[in-house]
Amino acid sequence: MNQVTSRRAVVRVPSGPGSIETVDAPVAEPGPAEIRVKIAAAAVNPVDLAVTAGVFHRLGMVHQPHWTGLGWDFAGTVEAAGPGVELPVGSRVAGFLDGFDRDHGSHAEHLLVPAAYVAVVQDAVDLVAAATVPLNATTAAQAVDLLGEAPTRSRRLLVTGAAGALGAYVAVLAQDRGWQVTGLARAADEPFVRGLGVDFATGLGQGWDAVADAAALQEPALRAVRDGGRFVGVQPAARLPEERGITGEVIIAHPDGPLLAGLLARVAAGELPARIHAVVPLDEAADAYRAMAQGGVRGRIVLVP
Ligand SMILES: NC(=O)c1ccc[n+]([C@@H]2O[C@H](COP(=O)([O-])OP(=O)(O)OC[C@H]3O[C@@H](n4cnc5c(N)ncnc54)[C@H](OP(=O)(O)O)[C@@H]3O)[C@@H](O)[C@H]2O)c1
Repeated sequence: MNQVTSRRAVVRVPSGPGSIETVDAPVAEPGPAEIRVKIAAAAVNPVDLAVTAGVFHRLGMVHQPHWTGLGWDFAGTVEAAGPGVELPVGSRVAGFLDGFDRDHGSHAEHLLVPAAYVAVVQDAVDLVAAATVPLNATTAAQAVDLLGEAPTRSRRLLVTGAAGALGAYVAVLAQDRGWQVTGLARAADEPFVRGLGVDFATGLGQGWDAVADAAALQEPALRAVRDGGRFVGVQPAARLPEERGITGEVIIAHPDGPLLAGLLARVAAGELPARIHAVVPLDEAADAYRAMAQGGVRGRIVLVP
């Protein structure tokens, strides 16, 4: 019998979007606690651009003999479930796969993933929209956990990149913890940012009680924090100087199905955005990555197999 195969986007020698190719690989059966998802949609994120550019290869974090699989975010349907999985075959799910050293990813027709990584997608949310949510909403929730509750007398939080995928979620979720949020974004993003229920700025200013740096501005954003304030960054590999009694943390997102379930429910309720910039066939992944790399994209570019 012929082995069933499935397409996936990979890089062998990463050197930007031009190095992306689509390969066929065998469809594997899920092991204990795993599911196989038939991918319906998979968003392209900045981390995918970095993998494709070889950033993590140069850091010595990738040791794949043949190719490196691309893609973190996904939404799709459970096609097979391993021993111990309660999620029924046919369930509509979304999730993200973390880690860099892997030969597979979500920019593919199928994905094997721990069942604990995914959450069921409400009927009201289509799978293309759902695919834009998992990585950035989860990261935002985990970043807001690092920020913690706003102190009663010093609640002014600046979120940089508030018009971006991550920053918009941070801006909404931080309000739940008592922060008085201002979103930093481009001038043209003002209506969107104010629509998140927050104040708006186009410059960093200074003296913030806390900064959540979702635009990865780094040192300038750190300088905008008042003495003794808080800073949450998004670039795990980049160390920031410790200064002026500022509590600095860097978020490293990790998949969390139950957390994602709550976030998807808020998307379904219209409380969190799920923005789609464009839908592109998987075979045109290189074009999607190029468009993403140009910047100025609002909402995610979503690949469909
Ligand atoms: N550590 C983790 O676990 C983790 C997880 C998720 C994301 N991240 C990182 O978080 C960052 C944001 O990701 P994302 O998906 O939200 O990216 P995104 O959607 O591209 O959002 C970034 C936003 O920041 C804006 N921006 C950049 N510089 C600005 C400036 N000087 N003034 C105003 N706005 C500015 C961008 O506007 P323009 O497009 O106009 O430049 C864009 O709207 C990325 O670096 C990503 O790698 C880290």
